Amino acid sequence: MSQQVALITGITGQDGSYLAEQLLDKGYVVHGLIRRSSTFNTARIDHLYLDPHDPDARLFLHYGDLTDGSRLVTLLERVEPTEVYHLGAQSHVRVSFDEPEFTGDVTGLGTTRLLEALRVSKVPARFYQASSSEMFGATPPPQNENAFFYPRSPYAAAKVYSYWMVRNYREAYGLFACNGILFNHESPRRGETFVTRKITMAIARIAAGLQDVLYLGNLEARRDWGYAPEYADAMWRMLQADEPADYVVATGTSYSVGDFVRMAFEHADLDWEKHVKFDPRYLRPTEVDDLIGDATKAKDVLGWQAQTFTPELVKIMVDADRARLGA
Ligand code: NAP
Ligand code: GDD
Repeated sequence: MSQQVALITGITGQDGSYLAEQLLDKGYVVHGLIRRSSTFNTARIDHLYLDPHDPDARLFLHYGDLTDGSRLVTLLERVEPTEVYHLGAQSHVRVSFDEPEFTGDVTGLGTTRLLEALRVSKVPARFYQASSSEMFGATPPPQNENAFFYPRSPYAAAKVYSYWMVRNYREAYGLFACNGILFNHESPRRGETFVTRKITMAIARIAAGLQDVLYLGNLEARRDWGYAPEYADAMWRMLQADEPADYVVATGTSYSVGDFVRMAFEHADLDWEKHVKFDPRYLRPTEVDDLIGDATKAKDVLGWQAQTFTPELVKIMVDADRARLGA
């Protein structure tokens, strides 16, 4: 079989790091787009990296940005990937209310720039788009591939735009392009300002005597939280299918933020009521109240099914953060 070559945008993020790990294990050559930063931003993939002079090196990193379309063209021409996984985004929903224009540029137009770079460079790669359950927004659960999109944030609106651009390039130019509509997925590598990781890091710090209070916003919102490495596997499966299509990836269960808090504090033998306080700063102008995904299509077509559910995920994350602090 010819060498499989992947290009991953967002390789320094939670999902990009798990996906890179899995693709390297499968024998792929992996290229990643990274942003130039004055400090290193590669902590999640440092364990995978070998000096490019090393004959065993199969992971290569390239500077670039989703706001720079011409760079995306030169990169595709140089790397000639067989698969492109587009995970790069301004991915924080609350931040998108403060920076709606920037979020539209990176999370929305960034996808168009990459699709257009594929079209003009004529690189015949398969394309994965990191679509999101956020797109369903106010549509009541359970949500499957046919549920209405009702975005409730600038982030979600940008993702809906990207979703339709992917569909359009599939229909207009015959691109093998898939939207993975992934519900929330978490891990010990989750960004520190998303609610699950914020909670589990705070618990570790409280247990270590470094913090006393955890400030949170809306505890009533419900999410379908799965385990990120399993979701990276679903991305790969989509690009191995016979036909390009769009898939919901989810556990099919939901818990409130308050449930997550209670389970996590209990697992650490701490009383959450003594430590958790409300701060309206963390509320959103419009909220997504309830997400529960129906991933029947992913099971039937891709053979993908969630293995790890929220209560176990809570334990994995609390244990990892406590181990990190020795608490
Ligand atoms: P993440 O940890 O926030 O990672 C985002 C990645 O995008 C980082 O590598 C980041 O680089 C990169 N990035 C941001 N702006 C960029 C720009 N202008 N140019 C190039 N790269 C840029 O997100 P994640 O949780 O891994 O999620 C991956 C993707 O799936 C995102 O598109 C997200 O919106 C989507 N998604 C996530 C979930 C979830 O629950 N995790 C669910 C549905 C969809 P830096 O490291 O330099 O910041
Ligand atoms: N971040 C955060 N911080 N969220 C809080 C807090 C807090 O202090 N307090 C309560 N929440 C609530 C939010 O209001 C939201 O209802 C819920 O916790 C989850 O928030 P996040 O963890 O920030 O995730 P998200 O659901 O908004 O977005 C994530 O999942 C999407 C998929 O549905 C991100 O990963 C998106 O990129 C992804 O598309």
